[in-house]
Amino acid sequence: MVSGGGMRAVERCRALGQAPFSDMAGGLYRGWLSPAHRASVAQLAAWMAEAGMTTHVDGAANLIGRYPGTGNGPPLIIGSHIDSVRDGGVYDGPLGVMLGIECVAALHAAGRRMPFAIEVIAFGDEEGSRFPAAMLTSKALAGLLDTVPDMADAQGVTLAQALGEWGLSPQTLRAARHPGALAYLEAHIEQGPVLEAEGLALGVVTGIAAQLRYEVTVMGQAGHAGTSAMPLRRDALAGSAEMILAIERIAQADASDLVATVGRIEAAPGAANVIAGQVRFTIDVRAGEAVRRDHAAAAILAEIATIAAQRGLGVSHRLIHDLPPSPCDPALMEQLEAALVAAGHPPRRLVSGAGHDAMNLAHLAPTAMLFIRCRDGISHNPAEHVEPADAQGALAVMLGFIDNLGASCA
Ligand code: GLV
Ligand code: MN
Ligand code: MN
Repeated sequence: MVSGGGMRAVERCRALGQAPFSDMAGGLYRGWLSPAHRASVAQLAAWMAEAGMTTHVDGAANLIGRYPGTGNGPPLIIGSHIDSVRDGGVYDGPLGVMLGIECVAALHAAGRRMPFAIEVIAFGDEEGSRFPAAMLTSKALAGLLDTVPDMADAQGVTLAQALGEWGLSPQTLRAARHPGALAYLEAHIEQGPVLEAEGLALGVVTGIAAQLRYEVTVMGQAGHAGTSAMPLRRDALAGSAEMILAIERIAQADASDLVATVGRIEAAPGAANVIAGQVRFTIDVRAGEAVRRDHAAAAILAEIATIAAQRGLGVSHRLIHDLPPSPCDPALMEQLEAALVAAGHPPRRLVSGAGHDAMNLAHLAPTAMLFIRCRDGISHNPAEHVEPADAQGALAVMLGFIDNLGASCA
């Protein structure tokens, strides 16, 4: 039976997995700036206050809890995200925030102050959970958001309207830059099977793979499903199906860590007896190196254009997300690994194929990431599971890391 901060962190993630902290019945979906997001921010602010922090919401709707240090220098930021994919798991993101709160709660209970302040941040848009963009709030915090694109969610609510409901605006979002940090630490479930396969609870992340995301629009001709002869059709959905299989083939032919995914598709007008006249789908391409990612993306876009031409379809694409690979800081990796070993874990370093807010925070401060094993490597799925004992282990390592960082500042 595990007790302590790790257990409480896990329980709190589970508590945020349902109404009023979820926007869907019977599962978890927490979209950025949604009612569920707002309820979660209020609950987390209460937990942060209980742990000894003052709290505020910045211009990007990031919740920031602050625990003062003995000095006036830049803070250590510990953070992760609280938005989720549709019908997702409860730990992807929130566990890193809850463990940050537990770090502060432990220091506060012991009456300890570090030489630096600690800020725990709950980011809101890591997943691209609502609008056709992703990681906007950590981008804003890192000062990387020069322009805020005009965009709307699936219901037609614009970003400006959604921000307005929080008393915020595209201007406050763009201006939400943080003044600077000593370091950034993010704990996150691995979302893959490596640690579990090796019988390890925890690992130190060396870096995060580069990402590209496109929205593709395929234009055909809508028509009657009963009367249009097959050779005369310009079926945008059949053409998209061929494109999607080509994307899979191109990614499979690359024997490296390259991956490509079509995770969302919409056909219009969307009726059983109408040939699809227009289709929109997304493509997500990732690799450890930007060159391999870009090479595959170029091959994919060329193949899509060829298929469209062969089928008499129109096609256009829009880049909606582009992040370079993000290496973690070597000195912080050493400090995190030292804490891992001191807590009795074998050292293990691994790359992250999943994206994290740390990719943006790397522009503000040196970053470190701790991975926590999750059952069967399953994530972005309600079956996501973390053992409380592993969360407890992660908390001990994070506290060790904070001590190591304190010692290095002395
Ligand atoms: C976030 O979960 C991502 O890697 O897309
Ligand atoms: Mn995720
Ligand atoms: Mn995540």
